[in-house]
Amino acid sequence: MRKGFLPFSPPLIGEEEIAEVVDTLRSGWLTTGPKTARFEREFAQYVGAPQALAVNSATAGLHLALEAIGVGPGDHVITPVYTFTACAEVIRYLGADPVFVDIERATFNIDPQRIERALTSRTRAILPVHLGGQACDMEPIVALARENGVKIIEDAAHALPTVYKARMVGTIGDATVFSFYVTKTLATGEGGMVTTASDEMAKRMKVMRLHGIDRDVWDRYTADKPNWYYEVVAPGFKYNMSDLMAAIGIHQLKNIDRFQKRREEIARRYTEAFSGLPLRTPHVARPEDTHSWHLYVIQLELEKIKLTRNQFIERMADAGIGTSVHFIPLHLHPYWRDRYSLKPEDFPVALDCYQRAVSLPIYPKMTDDDVERVITAVRQILS
Ligand SMILES: Cc1ncc(COP(=O)(O)O)c(C=O)c1O
Repeated sequence: MRKGFLPFSPPLIGEEEIAEVVDTLRSGWLTTGPKTARFEREFAQYVGAPQALAVNSATAGLHLALEAIGVGPGDHVITPVYTFTACAEVIRYLGADPVFVDIERATFNIDPQRIERALTSRTRAILPVHLGGQACDMEPIVALARENGVKIIEDAAHALPTVYKARMVGTIGDATVFSFYVTKTLATGEGGMVTTASDEMAKRMKVMRLHGIDRDVWDRYTADKPNWYYEVVAPGFKYNMSDLMAAIGIHQLKNIDRFQKRREEIARRYTEAFSGLPLRTPHVARPEDTHSWHLYVIQLELEKIKLTRNQFIERMADAGIGTSVHFIPLHLHPYWRDRYSLKPEDFPVALDCYQRAVSLPIYPKMTDDDVERVITAVRQILS
């Protein structure tokens, strides 16, 4: 990386994480074991969910959750078009089809009214995404799911910690899936967690997480049974978390509220500093909720400036600042476009948001000087 370059989203790894990883290495137990069990317990407690299952990615978690509710060929799963491809690819893994719906302009989140129009007798589940860490409006989504007998699998890859109307995300839908990918608010490099209140779903996901074997590795080697014995009850997957990842996660979790406060502080400072500039700052739908502030996405008012979005990003890079774009809507990607014969204008809100969107650096490692540097660059480029 260039000296003096402000990266878009590096993790904040402390001495405690490093010591715990070293301890794990010395213990000799590298794969799923006591640290994963502890991370699951502490995560469940933090979110307030009855069960938390550690996995090796959010993609794996979404796949397991959809499998556990019985999604299969011929089924439809409703998901926003403005998201990462993982949300839709896991539906295809199971031979089912995603039904894309457009988003609300203000929050980038799935539009509940459009969900209602997309529901059919083939709909098996709704997969909302709490984009950037702002909760979707879950009340109408839960009501629609109940009325239509479909399940809710929430993508909370960005949403730790996120609170919706005094309820923690992770305790609302049938299952909720978090990501611990390196850029996320809790980073273990790769990793994820699924929370659920359903014992039945948890049981199925535990089995499918590890080859369809009826007990996990830890039980296999410690329970009072011959340690070589196991039974395969389904063609499962290899989605378990290793203790090396869990070792990092345990200490990231301890700091998650502090991390969120710093992100919120940065968001507030940006929003205040950008007032009057030709851009829209993130709209906070319900100020009483907690926004994890995984992303801070501005929308450029392209009509008022002489730059394209891409030129803005280049100018930010010239100023030594990393940015990103969340997201390229799925209907613009060749696979989804061609498979479902989608045109750019089929999702006008997502298309328009995409053309204006720029994600700015926001992470706890940023100093006040870093934040001011971003503000100065944005001001200079836009004025
Ligand atoms: C909205 C969303 N869902 C799912 C994922 C997949 O997460 P993972 O990399 O942990 O599989 C991502 C990753 O960036 C994401 O942004």
